[in-house]
Amino acid sequence: MSQLDKFKRFTITSALPYANGPLHIGHLAGAYLPADIFVRYLRLLRKDVVYICGSDEHGAAITIKAKKEDTTPQAIIDKYHQQIKTSFEEFGISFDIYHRTSSAIHHDLSQEFFLNLYEKDEFVEKFSEQYFDEDFQQFLADRYITGTCPNCSNPNAYGDQCENCGTSLNPTDLINPISTLSGKTPVLKQTKHWFLPLDKYQPWLEKWIETKEDEWKVNVYGQCKSWLKSGLQPRSMTRDLDWGIDVPLEEAKGKKLYVWMDAPIGYISATKQWAIDNGKDWKLYWKKQANEADDSCLIHFIGKDNIVFHCIIFPSILHAHGEYILPQNVPANEFLNLEGDKLSTSRNHAVWLHEYLEEFPGKQDELRYVLTSILPETSDSEFTWKDYQARVNNELVAILGNYVNRVMILMHKFYDGKVENETGKIVLTDKNINAGLGRLYDDIQVNLEAYRFRQALQSVMDMARLGNRYLTEQEPWKTIKTNPEQAKEALHNSLVLIGHLAACLQPFLPGTVRKVVDMLNIPFSAIAMDAEVAFESGHQLNQPVLLFEKVEDEAIEKQLQKLADKKAAAAPKQPALVAAKENISYESFATMDIRTGTIITAEKVAKTKKLLKLSIDTGLDTRTIVSGIAEYYEPEAIIGQKVSVLVNLEPREIKGILSQGMILMAENSEGKLSFVTPAEDMHNGSVIR
Ligand code: 2FM
Ligand code: ZN
Repeated sequence: MSQLDKFKRFTITSALPYANGPLHIGHLAGAYLPADIFVRYLRLLRKDVVYICGSDEHGAAITIKAKKEDTTPQAIIDKYHQQIKTSFEEFGISFDIYHRTSSAIHHDLSQEFFLNLYEKDEFVEKFSEQYFDEDFQQFLADRYITGTCPNCSNPNAYGDQCENCGTSLNPTDLINPISTLSGKTPVLKQTKHWFLPLDKYQPWLEKWIETKEDEWKVNVYGQCKSWLKSGLQPRSMTRDLDWGIDVPLEEAKGKKLYVWMDAPIGYISATKQWAIDNGKDWKLYWKKQANEADDSCLIHFIGKDNIVFHCIIFPSILHAHGEYILPQNVPANEFLNLEGDKLSTSRNHAVWLHEYLEEFPGKQDELRYVLTSILPETSDSEFTWKDYQARVNNELVAILGNYVNRVMILMHKFYDGKVENETGKIVLTDKNINAGLGRLYDDIQVNLEAYRFRQALQSVMDMARLGNRYLTEQEPWKTIKTNPEQAKEALHNSLVLIGHLAACLQPFLPGTVRKVVDMLNIPFSAIAMDAEVAFESGHQLNQPVLLFEKVEDEAIEKQLQKLADKKAAAAPKQPALVAAKENISYESFATMDIRTGTIITAEKVAKTKKLLKLSIDTGLDTRTIVSGIAEYYEPEAIIGQKVSVLVNLEPREIKGILSQGMILMAENSEGKLSFVTPAEDMHNGSVIR
């Protein structure tokens, strides 16, 4: 009996990805593949389940990307929502709905939640000092500000969270805060916000999380305990931003909801939309029922950087509202690394799903298999292309593909693909196989229900190993001559075993199962976890197709080269330096009289492209200098600019103007010019030596 039988229905969510970039293998391995496997398992058990996801389209993640791509937030979310949705579909992630937080139904529900808590007086309204970028005239929330994490000293922590240690932060917690807009140190400015009093909910949270000690993963439970131990602080649910959901209060005009308030409500609004589209009642999946035993079982699949939001903040919101169920479990995964290095969007160190499919068309299940085999379930894990090749060739091709192929080929060779016997039905007759299967089913079930998908997949592969061993022992290719009845029985047993394999593979490799079901020529509905595929005598099998192909060395070399090229392209370029000059004596150097000065006036020299006529206060005098910087500086922009001037250079006439000296400029390898100015304010005429 399954542990899950005590639940009437299941509400399964995967973290809503930000619609600000394509998906890579780290996404799949974090919150999507495990959830999809689990949901497909529930469906095989014929449970009532809804699987929810969608794009997270608010917050600084979106607006910062829009700024980077020099476009609007709307254009960013439209582009990436579609791309992400397509990738999920291509990899068989079987959401019942992939929704959007920009939808009206979501905006309405988020505002309804805010007002519900507001009317219950749950929020603490506070004027507080928040960081403000004076250049951009903007408050700096969340990802608009970075600094050093006070907990782990990571220098790149965000204003709302340190992704290194997972601690949730407020911008004012950061050490050495820097605006990501201007790169400058921000100032503090007063503003009003609405805070969720997490400190008030702490005793309740402690009690609730305590009940999860034996059920939740050690990493998830441990993180929660450690936050509770350091004491929760009120957290603002509103932001001074211009992109997001309006705070539904007159006095909060111009303010938006905190993205981490609205995003998890996105799970609920998506369910509402799914219910409208499918004639269902969304409340059954989210609201407490009159009888607790009728509640839905809510499970959030996420990556470890989302733990605090799903285990502390969202449950607090649901609790404060009062009508909603709480998560039964939050099986967060750790991170996946790639070839010895962290996956990184900014450094383009990633295997992008859309690019993978261009290079390995139709090979979705190969990637699903390899990723499932290395899921970062209890600690960070690593994807390497050599390992990908080894697992495809030595496991998928050599064990699973080989078994199915051998049985199908022999059935066609000996019986033209017809399954026939006197009893009328083909059922499993081998006691050893039966016992082996029973043990493997138990392992698969126990591991799937404990979110140990790596181990569950190994047990499924053990089923194929069992089949291969049986075939090798039985040798039907020999007994077909010496004992044809035995050969037939062996192949029929093997065929029934393929039916079991198909059922157990379905959560993991749905595309492969489709091919197997086609070969067996049975309806998809014939495979189930709790029933054997019993072939009727006379059943005709279809022609065998190869399930998997070997991955050749060249394909792997190509991927490794591609990663190396990406790395080289992302690395800061080494400038091509001008060759060093011959040494000179100090006396030669000392003959130059270099002073600090200030540009007083600047104008273009008529009929030239490059020249500016400058008057410079050198401290000694005010003089005219002609300088070849017109392509880099507008005359009006450099008035008041501090410069370094070689004042004893022989005067010379340039375009009819007597130029009395030279402005020193730094020139980089791309020919870009920059003034050479003292690091601190120095009076004009200060000597440079
Ligand atoms: O970390 C992220 O990518 C977030 N967009 C996850 C949101 S999960 C949920 F709460 F919506
Ligand atoms: Zn940290």
